[in-house]
Amino acid sequence: VYPTPLVRLDALSVKYSNEIYAKLETVNPTGSHKDRESLQLIRDMIKKGFKSAVIASTGNAAISLSALAPASRIQVHVFVSRNIAQERLNLLSTFKPTLHVIEGSYDDAVKMSNEFAADEGAYLANPGHNMAKLIGDSGMGREIAKQMKRSPPDYVVVPTNNGTLLAGLWMGLNKNSEPAMVAAIARNSELMSSIAGYHRHDGTQLDRAITESNGIVVDISDREAARATYELLHEGILCEPASAAGLAAVKKIRIKGKSVVVVITGSGLKFMESYKMAIGP
Ligand SMILES: Cc1ncc(COP(=O)(O)O)c(C=O)c1O
Repeated sequence: VYPTPLVRLDALSVKYSNEIYAKLETVNPTGSHKDRESLQLIRDMIKKGFKSAVIASTGNAAISLSALAPASRIQVHVFVSRNIAQERLNLLSTFKPTLHVIEGSYDDAVKMSNEFAADEGAYLANPGHNMAKLIGDSGMGREIAKQMKRSPPDYVVVPTNNGTLLAGLWMGLNKNSEPAMVAAIARNSELMSSIAGYHRHDGTQLDRAITESNGIVVDISDREAARATYELLHEGILCEPASAAGLAAVKKIRIKGKSVVVVITGSGLKFMESYKMAIGP
């Protein structure tokens, strides 16, 4: 993956009396940080000789792997909950994975996909099992450390569901600088589908990163995420509401005079229905 831009958010820095920077993962091939994980997964599969992969997803991870793996002749099985939004299914089917739409929740999809991978002898690309995903995300941590070498950030704020991204970032960051890691989570959410539920399938690594960095977990409401989505649009960033949770967390932890990186994990253009819900009429 090529490095993604780190930009200073001038208006929001003034508004919230902090130095706020955005790490723009929206420029990745399928518009989210999941491409970093997918490319590392594909590398791992090629090395180990796998021809098919299995992944359960709320959207972005499956879209990314389904788009990128076929170029390496890898077939992708995707497990999603029947509750997934139609627009996510539409995008997914563009890349023609084998789709398994299951009755039940995301957690059920994870369970069923784990069993399917074991039965079929396919590569398991789920969080909680796979170091390759953390290694993929650690590259972003190294980029941030390099991009902010002169003045390392005090905080790195990360929209979080399973914790893979936050833990991977911490792996890449901590040799160079030591910010506090902030997990912006959404325990109950209609709007932030990508992170709703705080599933913690990489919870052990997540907890370690939060503890080691003196970090904090902040629960974000739909209202707060909607407001942050709109504020980011004003600053020229069109991200999905789940990704705006990071900015919402900056406001909520009431810091002043600090330097903060918010990770803009995914593009709003992929999921226009949730985007419309966020910015309102
Ligand atoms: C847009 C977006 N942001 C953040 C996350 C959270 O990543 P993790 O599950 O690694 O905590 C996801 C995961 O699906 C996502 O799609």
